[in-house]
Amino acid sequence: MSDYQTHEYDVLVVGAGGAGLRAAIEASANGVSVGLVCKSLLGKAHTVMAEGGIAAALATVDDRDNWKVHFADTLRGGQYLNHWRMAELHAKEAPACVRELEAWGALFDRTKDGRILQRHFGGHKYPRLAHVGDRTGLEMIRTLQDYGVHRGIAVHMECTIVRLLSDAGRVAGGFGYDRNTGRFLVFRAKAVVLATGGMGRAYKITSNSWEYTGDGHSLAYHAGAELIDMEFVQFHPTGMVWPPGVRGILVTESVRGEGGVLRNSLGERFMFRDIPELYVKQTASTEEEGWRYTQGDRDARRPPELLTRDHVARCIVREIKEGRGTPHGGVWLDIAWIKERLPDAGEHIKRKLPSMYHQFKQLADVDITSQPMEVGPTTHYMMGGVRVDPDTQMSTLAGLFAAGECAAGLHGANRLGGNSLSDLLVFGKRAGHFAASFAKEHRLGGSGDADLAAAARACLRPFEERGAEAESPYGIQGDLQEMMQAKVGIVRMAAEMEEALEGIASLRRRAERTHVGGHREYNPGWHTALDLESLLTVSEAVTRAALARRESRGAHFREDHPTKDDAWAKVNFVVRKGQDGAMEVRPAPTPEMPAEYQQIIKEMA
Ligand code: FUM
Repeated sequence: MSDYQTHEYDVLVVGAGGAGLRAAIEASANGVSVGLVCKSLLGKAHTVMAEGGIAAALATVDDRDNWKVHFADTLRGGQYLNHWRMAELHAKEAPACVRELEAWGALFDRTKDGRILQRHFGGHKYPRLAHVGDRTGLEMIRTLQDYGVHRGIAVHMECTIVRLLSDAGRVAGGFGYDRNTGRFLVFRAKAVVLATGGMGRAYKITSNSWEYTGDGHSLAYHAGAELIDMEFVQFHPTGMVWPPGVRGILVTESVRGEGGVLRNSLGERFMFRDIPELYVKQTASTEEEGWRYTQGDRDARRPPELLTRDHVARCIVREIKEGRGTPHGGVWLDIAWIKERLPDAGEHIKRKLPSMYHQFKQLADVDITSQPMEVGPTTHYMMGGVRVDPDTQMSTLAGLFAAGECAAGLHGANRLGGNSLSDLLVFGKRAGHFAASFAKEHRLGGSGDADLAAAARACLRPFEERGAEAESPYGIQGDLQEMMQAKVGIVRMAAEMEEALEGIASLRRRAERTHVGGHREYNPGWHTALDLESLLTVSEAVTRAALARRESRGAHFREDHPTKDDAWAKVNFVVRKGQDGAMEVRPAPTPEMPAEYQQIIKEMA
């Protein structure tokens, strides 16, 4: 036992992006002790990759906006597989959460008369994204971090949790290690909030950095909680494609929100060619109308570049596949063209999109005020995650809560841009509140010494000698990323996904033979070896759920079932660990929406 450093908290929050920070702040405000664990340094989180803004019906720019429109937009974007109650809470509570963030010090761009400025984004009917240039997620993290550090929250940086502890059917804490010293850590807690973000690192091309290996999804699954909607992985339409070292880095949707257009190698605005039935009435029929929309003309309709992400990403893939792509396998995203319309276009672009300007200048030697950007889809966000109660965010395992990207329900089959930041404020706050209540009503659970010893042994296995059989963790991770990209990516087929399942099983066997040299201090090879469990678990869950959904809907597109099928219109797929340890996938009916909410959707249509 002397090898474990032990900490005790009422509430343990795993993950310190927007959702984790907001949960920790709320739990602490409810008078309980809080430990906050982050895999990286505090402040380094995928939250900063939600660059373009926070979606909330503040109605500062267009007074026709209100929670009902936001609710209906979110459900339409998610193809009605969202949990209606989460969509309701989110739409109703997001405005207050944004104002609260402002009261805590967040600086938003302003309208001429001093109100919070809101911009257009895909799938949102009105300009709804409160923003700070193209650095909104960063401002949000900065604010929450500044506010949170004064609340007495104990922060454990550079720690990874590898296993949840449970006792008598409820969660009892987490077991992990300090990434610098390699020392094992035991966190005993009455309630645990998972806020670990997504799993983009299971794919080769991603906007996610190294931390996002599906840890929360995997921890919850192995502890016995259920996952849901795992087939829905969001491929953001615009990531950088060149040079190779920066492939996947996000190019914010706000480029399109500010008037940027997509063209193929023939110079065509190809997005005009394919408008989904659901959006025909809302979409501009001319380039002129689309431009007027982005400039705030209330009577104009949105340009097709601002259709939902799933659709835009697929259109881009089609252009590239059919030979109308750019030299490095993307399409052109052009904001420089607005100089035809705005006399100070160069300065305007730099003011509205400062990060994009510097990103392209420094990483690709492209000046976006005069040249188009080369872009293509990048794995960005996971709609699927831990199945939670919509009000409390508690999972199907007592005392285990989840919020933000690692939880599921709000976004259904496809998330609208900007809904991630409001999601993690609204549901981070709720998770923190209800985790604190749970902690007040329960005592610390026990965790058997045998469990801890087994967890430690499993962690140390990669140091065992393997001789000629030894596998590099980097090799396994790289092969998994290649395979998921190729076989369970934007366009899917049953046969390829079956091959992917065999591939995952084979990678699991290889993972049992991983060998790393050196010792536990500062050992990134060892860290990668330990990430493999999560990566393989989430990859299997995505693949099995994607095989089960024999239709195309939202972010899930099956070439062998290319249309929506009514049989699956009201079904979510639930993933859990079976009695025999094998992964089970079962259909579950979407929660019945009360008549008054169905009426709202009808009215908003
Ligand atoms: O494109 C973006 O700025 C990303 C926003 C989001 O994912 O919500």
